[in-house]
Amino acid sequence: VNEPLFLKNGKLFVLDQRLLPHKIKYIEIRSADEGFEAIKNMIVRGAPLIGITAMYALAVEAQKTTTPGHLLKKTSKINSARPTAVNLNFAAEEFSALVKKYSDKPDFNKIAMKTAAAFHSREIKASRAIGRNGAKLIKKDSTILTYCNAGALAAPDFGTALAVIFEAFKRGKVKEVFTSETRPYLQGMRLTAFELQNAKIPFRIISDNTAGFLMKKGMIDAIVVGADRIAANGDAANKIGTFALAVLAKYHNIPFYVAAPGTTIDFSIKSGGEIPIEERSDKELLYVGGRRIAPNGARGLYYGFDVTDNALITAIITEKGIASPVNKNTLAGLLGKR
Ligand code: MRU
Repeated sequence: VNEPLFLKNGKLFVLDQRLLPHKIKYIEIRSADEGFEAIKNMIVRGAPLIGITAMYALAVEAQKTTTPGHLLKKTSKINSARPTAVNLNFAAEEFSALVKKYSDKPDFNKIAMKTAAAFHSREIKASRAIGRNGAKLIKKDSTILTYCNAGALAAPDFGTALAVIFEAFKRGKVKEVFTSETRPYLQGMRLTAFELQNAKIPFRIISDNTAGFLMKKGMIDAIVVGADRIAANGDAANKIGTFALAVLAKYHNIPFYVAAPGTTIDFSIKSGGEIPIEERSDKELLYVGGRRIAPNGARGLYYGFDVTDNALITAIITEKGIASPVNKNTLAGLLGKR
């Protein structure tokens, strides 16, 4: 698949995911402010990728100036680009700590770039381990439903939920994948379908409102999704619509798995009610492909995410192993946090 982000001769490039799957275009990020815009406007998206982009964009800024006040201001600006994915907060915290400790060093620009690269490579390792751990849960000949995009375009290098699906497919366990279109921004239809097609995994796209019917017909064996922030008790925020799928899964007795790296778990908050939920412009809802569909003057309401209660999640799959049942003890036990 096309890399969502790369560095070339110290320059940072990101793939414009708004144009996928029909156009492959990379954009250079030349400053922290351009990183902010890329995250805010969803040129890059997906919780881990947002954090990585922020780290590199700040490191790019540090190539121009190492004045601590300036860098801290840019860090807090980029941290506000999208509120739900905690990976962005972690990136900002790590960069602020770095600035406070080392910005007076003559080679701070190099330290910043090295730290960004280390942040990036931690997520690469997590992805593979999530895939291996999650594949064990998938039964032979499974039909899997996934939602939004939690693949290589969202997290290096195979993503999270899709890392599980890719690995299970490699082990011969996946018969077919259903990717739900994911209104309003269509990450499932545009991005997940693109990745599944490139990986030659049999799949079909369904409209979001088809999922319940497929479950009722016995056509779904497991659901695997990603997460943007998981509270200490395992309540998980993910793309709006995830909660409804989890409720449907419970009703139909279908396992519902959330795949995410440790960097998506926010042990500082007790439960999902404390997770900030992004509200985006209703333009993304009322317009499709740049064309207004809703009546002129009509207003929309568009929350980007919802929270799935821990009791609805069969297991959380991390790089450190599987938390099941999902609660604060199983998660803390896995990640070593108290
Ligand atoms: O609004 P998006 O496209 O950034 O939302 C992405 C998701 O909801 C993903 O499932 C989540 O970030 C996990 S990505 C590995």
